[in-house]
Amino acid sequence: MYGMVNKAVEEMVVGAHGEATWLEIKRRAGVTEEIFISNEGYPDEITYKLVGAASELMQVPAEKILHAFGEHWVLETARKGYGHMMAAGGSSLGEFLDNLPLFHDRVALLYPNLAPPQFKVTHRAERSLHLHYITHRAGLTPFVEGLLSGLAKMFNTTAKFALVEARAAGAEHDVFLVEW
Ligand code: HEM
Repeated sequence: MYGMVNKAVEEMVVGAHGEATWLEIKRRAGVTEEIFISNEGYPDEITYKLVGAASELMQVPAEKILHAFGEHWVLETARKGYGHMMAAGGSSLGEFLDNLPLFHDRVALLYPNLAPPQFKVTHRAERSLHLHYITHRAGLTPFVEGLLSGLAKMFNTTAKFALVEARAAGAEHDVFLVEW
């Protein structure tokens, strides 16, 4: 994944727990990079190890860290660093999710080696839809839940998210029922 992802993890940890905690997480994860460069590619393994080490050090399940990271990504990283793209994504939660399948196409114009997930929308009704999350990466469902929760907050919208099909339970991919 592009370095911007690890940088955002760093920013979240340093903001909440300080520099010393971040250095300890990197040490435990066996990550020797001094800094992460936003537009350089790093093995996914580094991100997973950082989340694992943070979970171990802070005695918090990795799922909770991924959820918090999803919210942080939308509300801090994306909104502050890519405000124009987030604004172009839509002016309500429903509209943003309608456009989500094409979202990373625009990101890929800036980051050509992007290996993003795929999103699909089905069962669109006035205040609900099914969001399909398709990826080759494992274990990121709680990250998506955090992203969705961050988007609801961004639009000041009360929403419910239910995982109605789960890859972890044998489904082909995750499907969320989103209602607002
Ligand atoms: C301007 C805002 C955004 C940028 C710049 C961005 C960029 C990225 C980057 C760089 C990655 C790592 C993949 C790679 O490096 O190959 C990624 C992954 C991901 N993005 Fe985004 N993204 C943005 C917004 C969003 C939004 C709004 C969502 C969903 C609500 C989302 C969902 C995901 C997910 C779930 C992954 C994890 C990869 C996977 O599941 O395979 N992103 N994105």
